[in-house]
Parts: sequence; C-alpha cells; structure tokens
Amino acid sequence: MNVLVIGSGGREHALCHALRRSRGLGRLLILPGNAGTAELGTNVPGDPCDIALALEVARREDVGLTIVGPEEPLAAGIVDAFEAAGRRIFGPTAAAARLESDKAFAKQLMRQYAVPTADARIFDDYELARQYIATRDEAVVVKAAGLAKGKGVIVCADPADAILAAERILVQRVFGEAGARIVVEERLLGREASLLAVVDRHTSYLLEPAQDHKRLGDGDSGPNTGGMGAFCPTPLVTEAVLRQVQTQILVPVLDALVREGLPYRGVLYLGLMLTAAGPKVLEFNCRFGDPEAQAILMRLESDLLELLNAAVDGRLEQVEVRWDPRHALCVVMASAGYPEAVRTGVPIRGLPPPADDAVVFHAGTRRVGDEVVTAGGRVLGVTALGPTLADARRRAYELVAQIRFEGAQYRTDLGA
Ligand code: AMP
Ligand code: GLY
Repeated sequence: MNVLVIGSGGREHALCHALRRSRGLGRLLILPGNAGTAELGTNVPGDPCDIALALEVARREDVGLTIVGPEEPLAAGIVDAFEAAGRRIFGPTAAAARLESDKAFAKQLMRQYAVPTADARIFDDYELARQYIATRDEAVVVKAAGLAKGKGVIVCADPADAILAAERILVQRVFGEAGARIVVEERLLGREASLLAVVDRHTSYLLEPAQDHKRLGDGDSGPNTGGMGAFCPTPLVTEAVLRQVQTQILVPVLDALVREGLPYRGVLYLGLMLTAAGPKVLEFNCRFGDPEAQAILMRLESDLLELLNAAVDGRLEQVEVRWDPRHALCVVMASAGYPEAVRTGVPIRGLPPPADDAVVFHAGTRRVGDEVVTAGGRVLGVTALGPTLADARRRAYELVAQIRFEGAQYRTDLGA
C-alpha cells in the first residue's frame, strides 16, 4: 500500500522510520518532509495545510492511506475532505480535532462530562479577565484558546503576572487570532506525563507512556517550547495510574465525543498532570506528540501500518501490539533563538548513520547540495535505545556531542 505522510518534523521522520519496517508498505510519500524523510521516501514539496494538494497527491500516487502528523491540517479539515472524496486517512475530523484547536471547547466538554482537569474560566474580554484574575490569590495559568504551536500557555507566579499575560494574549494578540479567547485556570501541581491512544470511536489502544520536557532550559527553566526531549516508558505512569486514566479520562472523553456526534478516530494525546488527587488533563492533542513520537515509535516492534490501518477500518481490537523492552530517549537539538525567531540555513555536521539502537530524526532540516542545513526551530531529535533509561541517555548524549551546528541549543538533563 502506498502511504502519504503529511508534515515535516521529527514526528513525521519517526513515523516514516516505523513505516519503513511495515510489511505492507509500497511507496512512501511525504508532504513536504525534510532531509531525513527524503532518505526513506519521496518528499513532495508544498504546504502541509494545502488540502487540495494533499488530495491531488493521494489520487495521483494511488495512496491507500494518508497519515496526518501536525494539528493544523486536521483543524483545517483535511480528514473531512479526504473522507468526502472517499479516500482513507488516519486522523480526526475538524470538529473532533477541536479538542486541541479550541481549549475552551475542550474545557467545556470535560466540565460537562466530569473529566478531571484544572478548574477554569473562559474569557474573550480583557476587562472581565482582569477583574476575575485580580480576585484570585493563588497561581493561575493563562492559555490562548486556539492553536499556538505549543507556546500559547503562560504559567504565572502571581495575579499581576497573570493580568499581564491576559493583556499580551487578548489585547496585544501575541499569538494572533489564537488568542481571541483565553482560558484562565488553576495551576496544578505534580509531575507531567504524555499518554497517547490510537482510537477508533469507542475502541482505543494506549501506547507506552512517555514524558516530555516542555521548557527550553535545564531544570525546567525558561520558556515553554514545542518540546525539548522525551523518554519512554516513564515510571510515573504505574498500572494504577493507567487504570485511572482509562476509566476516568479516556473512556469518558471518547464516550462524550460520540454523544456529541463527534466520534474520534486517530491519535488522542492526553497531556496529564499526575496530582495528589489523581491524574488530571492539562491538554488534549489530536495527533502524535512531538518529540514523544520519536521515543515511543522507536520502541514499537509491531507493524505501524497494520495498526493504523486497523484503526481506520474499525478493527483495532484484532491487532496485537508488541514493544521493545528497552528504554528510549530523545534529545531535541534546536536552533539559536528558539522558541522565538531563528536563523536557518546553518550547516549541520557530524550526523551519524542510523543504527539499531540510535536514530537521529530530522525536524527542521533541508538538503542543499551535499549539505544538510537547519530549516526551523527544532532541528534534530537524537533518539537512542538502551537496556535502562541511563543507558539510553548515555547513548543519546554521546551522539549529541558528535553533532555540530552553530548555535545549537539542547537540554543536558533529560532522563537524569
Ligand atoms: P499545554 O499546552 O496546555 O499542555 O501547556 C503547556 C505546559 O504548561 C504544560 O505541559 C504544563 O507544564 C504547563 N501547564 C499547563 N496547564 C497547567 C496547569 N493548569 N497547571 C500547571 N501547569 C500547567
Ligand atoms: N510534545 C508536545 C506536543 O506534541 O504537543
């Protein structure tokens, strides 16, 4: 079966790497891909949000399954368009993807169906937000309701900070129209974990749990980013936590979506805070996490294409999923300036060839002649396997030390 992957990040390279091991794979196309995916399939230049182009490629290349990496094309309705055209695609419809693309919608749904999450209020008026925040004396988190590349969340130390955050988002529109509405919520305390489920309506399969590192700097300092590294599995998600997440979060959310007429198919990503009162939802994503996918898929022994095909065909319960018992750790190397504006076109040296226990996934990279150069904020996801987390960590950082590009930033404390 010919497969089209939409996107150009480390997640998409990791998807392609896993798909390459799938027995049923024919040709692999990536729209638009990066220098890493070009080694595994054919990159098709273009905008990943150009739905008409994606459809045209799928028709022209006789694509049997399209897999959508990023959230923007999902929110823009790529799945609706493919389904209307009778083409198989893995991902939720735009209406179901609102779980990610509209944090106010997600909050209301969770409130209505008693899914554990931070208490929150929703505002589109700055003055009302200001008055509300001024009455709070505990720390709050201010979030742009719309899509802001994982950067639209400001964790505030005190009300003065939070009022400033509300003003930046609602009035100054630092996140553009994504900030036309904000969610002001209680700050939860605990450790964070990412749990991803492959979902077909009521049926779901939970992938191995992972841990992301959203802050730019060591010791969780600095601004929030799209994610600076991940490992899988995580000891934080015990069997007991898994059961709680299943019964209190995953099953109720999927049921709620069915009842609201928005049955979910695709990956549902649960960003969780493991609080003293049990796991609570920080956010939903409607796709594989990045960089979580790099660590998770590195451990997937089963056939990814078969798993995703089973979800699309509604026979998820028939597939058996096997995992490599080793630990995986992914270190993101980012451009100077990330998560703000970055310079691109910087040559990358010292890239090692893929090995059984380590792969450097490309994110923002591009090939120019004989060289691979930087082409975005997050550049590489250096991912290694090891018998223990410490081994995976040692191996990944060994490779990081060999790779050089000017201004590279990465965390040195992942998995420590
Ligand atoms: P989100 O994009 O909603 O996951 O938020 C990004 C990051 O902000 C999360 O990974 C958390 O570290 C932090 N965060 C979001 N919401 C809360 C909350 N209610 N309490 C504490 N931290 C939060
Ligand atoms: N790593 C967080 C995300 O994919 O949104």
